[in-house]
Parts: sequence; structure tokens; C-alpha cells
Amino acid sequence: MRNKILAANWKMNLTASEAHDWLVEFNEIDSDKSNIEFRLYAPNIFLSDLAKSQSMHIGAQNVHPSDSGAFTGEVSILQLVSVGTQSVLIGHSERRSYFHESDAFLKEKVDACVKHKLPFIFCCGESLEIREKDEHLSFISAQLSAAILHLNTSDLSLLTIAYEPIWAIGTGQTADTDQINEVHAFIRKVLRESFSEDGVNVSILYGGSVNASNAKSIFACPDVDGGLIGGASLNASNFLELASSF
Ligand code: PGA
Repeated sequence: MRNKILAANWKMNLTASEAHDWLVEFNEIDSDKSNIEFRLYAPNIFLSDLAKSQSMHIGAQNVHPSDSGAFTGEVSILQLVSVGTQSVLIGHSERRSYFHESDAFLKEKVDACVKHKLPFIFCCGESLEIREKDEHLSFISAQLSAAILHLNTSDLSLLTIAYEPIWAIGTGQTADTDQINEVHAFIRKVLRESFSEDGVNVSILYGGSVNASNAKSIFACPDVDGGLIGGASLNASNFLELASSF
């Protein structure tokens, strides 16, 4: 059985008091939260406070693969875990493009998560240019091969995948359900070929301009197990509202 996951990716948004108020509001909203795994990927400086409330799965948006050392401005898995962080995002397209994170560096992060048994969401997805050349499936296949297909099946319980077409992130332009179905079914096939039936249990999330008006059709796609939500996660009630679209 694959978990249904709704993950908020706040990116570099909200202040400390706004982050606190978000969690209070999320917890106060009276709705059935039992069928979906809600996760919150917050800026590092808020993780400790948010995790203290123990009311929700709290994750980090990035991590450095080394356990410690001279990496000014970076944060290690040991440090994240020491303040209650329960998982991390790896390979978000904004990290890949703005901070030039290579496939090889992302593989190091994946291996560090495996070493420390820290769950992670591995993000993949193509640019508009690649899609227009109809090379999106081979591009995604290469992203998966470079960083996760070497895993042992015993480590797959740590892995969630998020398919996020770059052209749909923060643009208001969502992939249509044919495009989403095609890529999610393709990723599922790659996982099955690499890990046999164990690969089929990996949850695959969709991300890219998901909101209350398109969530129902996206979450109805057979290989979509949830969403990684940016803009629509900045308000707790908007985010929670998406859960009713499953
Ligand atoms: P968006 O961001 O929902 O604002 O498009 C999604 C993401 O980048 O994870």
C-alpha cells in the first residue's frame, strides 16, 4: 500500500511568527487528518520550533551530504535530526538550477540519507525546452539513474519521488492529466524494472502549481500518490483544503 502524502514546500517564505501561526491554524482546523500523511518542508531556522510541537511531520528543504566539516552555511543530516527533522527534499529544481547541484552531488545526498536512515523526497522533472523536444522521459530516466536506481530494495522505504515539471512550478501553468499520467506511469515502470515489485510501493507525488481548483483531477490520476505544494501551502487552510481532493 502506498502512502497518500500532501507535502507543503514553503521555500524561502514566512517569518518565525507566521510559521508558528500556520501550525497553530493547521492543528486547530477540525477535519479528518488521518488518511493522509501531511508533511511540512520549512526553512531550516524554523525546524526546531516546529518539530517541538510534535503535531506534524517536519522536513528540511535541503541538506549537505557530509556529517560535519568546513562547509560554511550548510547543514548536515546529524544536525537536522538533532532538532527533530523527519525527512528532507533532495534535488528540487530550484536547487539544481539556482545552486548548480549536479546529479553526482544529489547522489551523495541520497547516500547520506540512506546511511542515516533519513526518509527523503527525490525531485525530478524536465524544463520546457526538453519537453518541447519530446525528450522528457529520457531526461527523467537519466535523473533517476544518476541518483536513486543504485539503491538496495531494503532502502526503498526511505524513498518518495516528486515529479515536478520545471515549467509548471510557480507559474500557474499545471501539466495536464495526460502529461502527468504519462510521466508517473513511466516512473512507476522504471521503479518496477529496477526493484521489481518492491519498486511499486514507492509513492510518487506531483508538484507544480497544484491548487484547490486542479487538485481533484491531478490526485485522481492512478499513479499520483499526492502532491508537493509550494504557493498553495503558504496558508494552512488552503493547504488542508487540498486533502479533500483525494
Ligand atoms: P508551486 O511549487 O506549487 O508553487 O508550483 C511546487 C514546488 O516547487 O515544490
